[in-house]
Order: sequence, then C-alpha cells, then structure tokens
Amino acid sequence: MTIKIAIDGPAGSGKSTVAKILAKKLNFVYVDTGALYRAITYKILKEGININEKKAILNIINNFDITLKSERIFLDGIDITEEIRKPYISQNVSQISQIPEIREFMVKLQKELANKNNIVMDGRDITTVVMPDAQFKFYITATEEVRAKRRYNELKANNFNISFKDILNEIKIRDKMDMERSIAPLKIAEDAIVVDTSDMTIDEVTNKLYDIIIKQL
Ligand code: C5P
Repeated sequence: MTIKIAIDGPAGSGKSTVAKILAKKLNFVYVDTGALYRAITYKILKEGININEKKAILNIINNFDITLKSERIFLDGIDITEEIRKPYISQNVSQISQIPEIREFMVKLQKELANKNNIVMDGRDITTVVMPDAQFKFYITATEEVRAKRRYNELKANNFNISFKDILNEIKIRDKMDMERSIAPLKIAEDAIVVDTSDMTIDEVTNKLYDIIIKQL
C-alpha cells in the first residue's frame, strides 16, 4: 500500500508550494492536479475546441499526451510550465474542469498515480474523490485578500501586467465555480485538518504539516 497525502484548498492558498516542499522532504512523488486541468484547458483553447461538442472533447482526452518531469509539465513533448500560469488559462480553467468527461479522465489518471507511488497530491477534489482513502488529508486556506495578494506578487514577479482588483475578482469567480459545481465541488472533507495560512509563512505551514505526518508515519 502506498502512503497518500491529500491536500485541497481554494486558489492561491499556498497549497501547491507547500505540497511541493513536503514531497521533497519526504521523498514522495508530487502531483499538482491543477496543472493537469490547466494543461487540458491550454490544449482546448489552442485548438479552438467548442466545449459543448462531446466528440471533440473526447478526441482531446484520447490524445492527451502529458508528462510531469521534475517540476516541469510537457504537453505533446513541449514544455508548457510557464504558459499554463498565464491569466487567460486561469480565467477559463474552472469552466473546462466542470466537463464530466474531463473530470472522469483526470480522476482515473490521478488514482493510478496514487496507487503506484508514495504521493503528495493537491487540488480541489483530492481529499474527497481522488484519494478519499488517504492517510493524511489537509484543507489549506487563507482569506480572499491574502490569496489575491500572493497571486498578484507572483504574477508581478513574472512581469505580468495585471491589477490587484482583477486578480481578486478572478479568484472570487474561480472559487465560486469550483465550490458550486455539481461534480466533485471543492469542500472540506469531514476528516481533513484545516489550516488557515493567512498569517503564516510557507515554512510555518510546511513544518506544521510535516510534524503531523512524521508523528504518524
Ligand atoms: O490549483 P490551480 O489553481 O492551478 O487549479 C486550477 C483550476 O483547476 C481550479 O480553479 C479548478 O477549476 C481546477 N481543478 C479542479 N480539480 C482539481 C484541481 C484543479 O477542478 N483537483
């Protein structure tokens, strides 16, 4: 049996940063499921697919050639790590990730990864749908303003010209869509440990999770 650490939370909560560091410390595989949804969004937008056309969506899924390699993500052999963080992807990903066929495909792929490796996986439905059997479940959150500020600083550092107001707005819309969708909405699993990171540094959050895990491993 593999060891599974499942982390969910809203946009900009810091969960991916923490999950990545945790995986390194534990020598586990890390899977950023948000990046997978972003990658398929990129492919659909690039190919100009009408998301109401079932056949076209199935075609995308059946030809989805994705590779995760040392913190980089490759689609059809091309490195799209930076591209999928751009605002036009963030603005479309929540709509595309509601498509049932896409979720079904992603959940299957993610479950397979989790059954093969000791894993840290983060996303929106990891504690509830993908790894409900995880030995460790966390829900990482922070206030909307703090999360927007983090995204703003991140994008600014990467030279994106976007206002704080627009980011806050995008986060609000994305959270609402992710929490209210009918399939696998973002919610706090009954047995998840909730960590509010609004007033915590990355190190503090990582150490808190690490201590909880190490005590029980
Ligand atoms: O984590 P990140 O912000 O990169 O995720 C991008 C989007 O992908 C989320 O807003 C959500 O719509 C979707 N997603 C999802 N289920 C997951 C992970 C991400 O629906 N497990």
